[in-house]
Amino acid sequence: MSRTPQGQRASLDKQPHEVAAMFDGVAARYDLTNTVLSFGQDRSWRRATRAALDLRPGERVLDVGAGTGVSTEELAHSGAYAVGADLSLGMLHAGKRSRPAVPLLAGDALRLPFADASFDAVTISFALRNVNDTDAALRELARVTKPGGRLVVCEFSTPVNPAFRTVYLSYLMRSLPAVARAVSSNPDAYVYLAESIRAWPDQAALAARIGAAGWGRVGWRNLSGGIVALHRATRA
Ligand SMILES: C[S@@+](CC[C@H](N)C(=O)[O-])C[C@H]1O[C@@H](n2cnc3c(N)ncnc32)[C@H](O)[C@@H]1O
Repeated sequence: MSRTPQGQRASLDKQPHEVAAMFDGVAARYDLTNTVLSFGQDRSWRRATRAALDLRPGERVLDVGAGTGVSTEELAHSGAYAVGADLSLGMLHAGKRSRPAVPLLAGDALRLPFADASFDAVTISFALRNVNDTDAALRELARVTKPGGRLVVCEFSTPVNPAFRTVYLSYLMRSLPAVARAVSSNPDAYVYLAESIRAWPDQAALAARIGAAGWGRVGWRNLSGGIVALHRATRA
């Protein structure tokens, strides 16, 4: 496999239309596959994301890379007005069918269809890793957030315990693609998932990038031993 000068695999450097096409291909069984591959833990990660956003009834929150709206629906339980945006029409259509009450829009994280300072809070769950310019996406999230507004990034991260990290990386690279072949409509997308998780910055490195993109008071909390991290920040 070829590598870029930064040492990343070239296949991870997908253009937006390739990312959208990949998610179109998994949309039909996305929610089920997610729950199976995460051993059902995705539900508690979503609840933790909602809690970290500290939403109040009547606030406006944007969920970028919302996919089928599974993450957006959880946010609405707070009483805030939650809207999702995504690049993949296949994911949005699947969401419209399974969650007709959740407002979902077509939109690119790098050019969001909203005015400056439109939201009290913004969030992105398991999607920042897929956007092909992470820093530009973090800046664009800051643009649509009110001064003092909150950001929560929910993303796969680096397990903190070295022994557990070894077992987990082996699950990612060997077992996850095999399980995906049994349950997903597009197993290749889950090979990409495993490789993109391995190439993603760890907790401290991501925090530094969030801070450099117009966000202050950046911190994080590990979930499931660091399989997932919630990064929280405030619009400077
Ligand atoms: C793994 S899914 C996450 C869906 C949902 N947030 C969740 O928690 O299950 C990643 C989503 O990010 C979307 N995505 C990737 N690049 C994007 C971009 N540039 N703008 C908007 N959405 C994007 C994909 O289409 C896909 O639906």
